[in-house]
Amino acid sequence: MSGQKKFYVTTPIYYPSSDLHIGHTYTTVAADTMNRFKKLQGYDSYFITGTDEHGQKIEKIALEHNMSPQEYVDGVVSGVKKLWDTMNVQYNQFIRTTDVDHIETIQAIFRKLYEQGDIYKGKYEGLYCTPCESFWTESQAPDGICPDCKRKLEQASEEAYFFRMSKYADRLLAYMEEHPDFIQPEARKNEMINNFIKPGLQDLCVSRTSFQWGVPVDFDPGHVVYVWIDALPNYLSALGYCNEKEDKMASYWPPDLQLVGKDIIRFHTIYWPIILMALDLPLPEKIYGHGWILLKEGKMSKSLGNVVDPVELVKKYGTDALRYYILREMNFGGDSAYSEDLLISRINSDLANDLGNLLNRTTAMTVKYFDGQIPPVREERPEDEELKEQMISLPGKVSKLMDQPDFAKALETIWKAVSATNKYIDENKPWALGKNPEEKDRLAQVMYQLSESLRFLGILIGPFMPETGKKILDYLNVEEEYRSWNSLHAFGLCPFEKRYDRCEPLFPRIERKKEKE
Ligand code: MSP
Repeated sequence: MSGQKKFYVTTPIYYPSSDLHIGHTYTTVAADTMNRFKKLQGYDSYFITGTDEHGQKIEKIALEHNMSPQEYVDGVVSGVKKLWDTMNVQYNQFIRTTDVDHIETIQAIFRKLYEQGDIYKGKYEGLYCTPCESFWTESQAPDGICPDCKRKLEQASEEAYFFRMSKYADRLLAYMEEHPDFIQPEARKNEMINNFIKPGLQDLCVSRTSFQWGVPVDFDPGHVVYVWIDALPNYLSALGYCNEKEDKMASYWPPDLQLVGKDIIRFHTIYWPIILMALDLPLPEKIYGHGWILLKEGKMSKSLGNVVDPVELVKKYGTDALRYYILREMNFGGDSAYSEDLLISRINSDLANDLGNLLNRTTAMTVKYFDGQIPPVREERPEDEELKEQMISLPGKVSKLMDQPDFAKALETIWKAVSATNKYIDENKPWALGKNPEEKDRLAQVMYQLSESLRFLGILIGPFMPETGKKILDYLNVEEEYRSWNSLHAFGLCPFEKRYDRCEPLFPRIERKKEKE
């Protein structure tokens, strides 16, 4: 659509594995929320995710399963997609690095970089971490232990192609300094500059010969492209860069927001921008490195048997409750501790009590006093202003927080408005007004204020909890034209002309005792 602003948001592409846990859902739910929020605001927003299927690690796992790597990845990818369906994640495109189009892009990029002299052939002697698919020098890992995952490194010695990273170091540093928003949060940027760029970038080994499961270097059989050089440009291949797909580069490039976990920020803020500089492409607007969801005892891992399965949690509590918990409870920039107890508390207090009761009281009283239809003749009073103003200022406040992005604060701000609406009920006491026939017009206004506030809340909650947002608007019979971002510019627009019924509870309270049983 002409004149429509675009937004391009990405998540990392996941290593296909059958044990994707609640930590993995974190980025994807956040990116989905952002995509939905931008769409609500009228952007032409595009959101991609996918799977990172090549590399030594996958080849090894497939072998352990007595399968070919292709059979293995084909078997697990459907599980990854299912998880995103379960979490109600709506991506525009799911990229697999084994897709023919993606392979075409990688081969074209590799060839171009080689032909223009950024990639040269040499010999790799050094350390390699297979679980992280990451090269390390003796000086970076003097004890032979991976600085990221703390596992033992392997000695690697093979003929390989190298990328002249050092050539771009000064340009990258200057770019980071001129674009303070490029890497967020700030602390992660400083870490990259001080620990990696300033000590001097080493040339990066970008091909392997000791295994086969990767994109072949088409002009030098026997070499496969290093998995990170294969994975990072998925953000380009998705848009048809150097492949046969529809060319969406002009519409969406560069990405507005790339969400990644803190463990892979180095790849995304050093290798990735350098690849783009070498390809002469604009850099992403913002790369946000979020913290991890941890357990009290530390990391989640299959070997420790402490993996928290999001599918089980959704079965128990529902998709929206889990989405709310992840986005609200987790401090997006830093690490956060997961606890099911806290999840239950959030459901009971914020969802069942604050939001659920608000909708319940509003619909129940509208049914009781007005047979489900608010009369058009109403009596406004000065005490209505405060709630009105709070609602009118809410979209702007939430929008600012989403631009940071700070999902938890955005939800906290919406919930302050939920509390203010509950307080409005307590102060205006519709049950007392209902006893006095002379206060009928005033009662109508109170019920209108509540419904209109719930319309604002339902619209703004939608990107975070899509089913819940829709349910609220459906219960209030809000017409399509009053569900848009533009319809939030004024309070009092929605006529609520259709009768509504008393709602079912939005979120049933969770009895802790039952839960423990
Ligand atoms: N394949 C690479 C990404 C390539 S992107 C070009 C990869 N995959 S991964 O499956 O290991 O991780 C995917 C994402 O999940 C990463 O951003 C990682 O930080 C995130 N998380 C893994 N465990 C996590 C938590 N416990 N908490 C939050 N995020 C976590 O890395």
